[in-house]
Amino acid sequence: MSATPTELVVLGIETSCDETAAAVVRGIPPGPGQILSNVVHHQIENHEPYGGVVPEIAARAHVELLDSVIARALSDAGKDMSQIDGFAATAGPGLIGGVMVGLLSAKALALAMNKPLVALNHLEAHALSARLVEGTEFPFLLLLISGGHCQLMAAEGVGKYNLYGATIDDAVGEAFDKVAKLIGLPYPGGPEIERAARQGNPKRFAFPRPMLGRRGMEFSFSGLKTAVRQIAGGVPGGAPNIEPKLVADFAASFQAAVVDVLVDRARIAMRKFRSDFGCPKEAMDFVVAGGVASNRSIAAALKSLAAEEGFRLSLPPPALCTDNGAMVAWAGLERLSRGLTDALGSPPRARWPLESPEHIA
Ligand code: KG4
Ligand code: ZN
Repeated sequence: MSATPTELVVLGIETSCDETAAAVVRGIPPGPGQILSNVVHHQIENHEPYGGVVPEIAARAHVELLDSVIARALSDAGKDMSQIDGFAATAGPGLIGGVMVGLLSAKALALAMNKPLVALNHLEAHALSARLVEGTEFPFLLLLISGGHCQLMAAEGVGKYNLYGATIDDAVGEAFDKVAKLIGLPYPGGPEIERAARQGNPKRFAFPRPMLGRRGMEFSFSGLKTAVRQIAGGVPGGAPNIEPKLVADFAASFQAAVVDVLVDRARIAMRKFRSDFGCPKEAMDFVVAGGVASNRSIAAALKSLAAEEGFRLSLPPPALCTDNGAMVAWAGLERLSRGLTDALGSPPRARWPLESPEHIA
């Protein structure tokens, strides 16, 4: 079915990790869309004692929270269920228990209201968030940097993504979280490291820059994490006894290494994108999405890189970079407006690469 210019209102549900989120979005592709509500319940206090997300605890919390989060999303938007044109939920990849909770709720709502279901890939929701915010046209280069993912891809259209490179081990946000734990900072580690790094000396420790200067666009962060562990582990008494100045220097040196790696990999991707697509627009768009994109040092470095390479950086605001329902609702709206809906039997998936055939539009 071809795209229709009708405005749609979609409810999106996100439960693939530790955010229980729902939102209502209105619009017409390519956007920008209008966010009528965006309710996010961060389960930080549930997981903080464990230093990371515990899947069982997350799934149970989603069950307890989701109904009220959805009710608030509707009331904040001033809509009732009958005014929703379609229901979208993350169907993977993610923690399977949580994905099941959100997807089942969306299926129940779609069935009860006799409206279409969109069973979305979480990565596609992140990928299309720049269209929600500023109506970015295809094709664009996407760097997705989150707690579960680190990849570069060319987004050519809804359901049309060409993977340039991904991490071969840890995701970048995961590295932030693990390193934070090693140096005694609380969970989630990304914002804590960013805060500590402001007072630190980025040259104090010459941490490795994995993959730097290598061909290809893969990432690797486990060696960097190990390097931090080796030095931090030598501090007598371990992480709780690392003095604040040293914590700040660890954080700043680690963050500087991550920045160098991301810039190096993204530069290669920009050159590949240019050779793949020529210069299809006035300036080519470089979209950075995922929770780590809210890091200001990373964003600033990627902005200068984009300027050097003739790209325009497009960075959703932090609330739309970390997991949220609005990006799910918007990606659902993009699919729905193209007639791309899913059967009520669509399965939840723990793993689901964005280039797999199910997405091809
Ligand atoms: O996109 P997101 O909310 O969830 C996933 O889909 O993974 O990303 C969460 C990740 C966490 O690892 C968190 O530590 C990281 O994003 N993060 C940051 C910052 N804010 C969140 N990493 C670095 N700097 C930040 N300011
Ligand atoms: Zn995410």
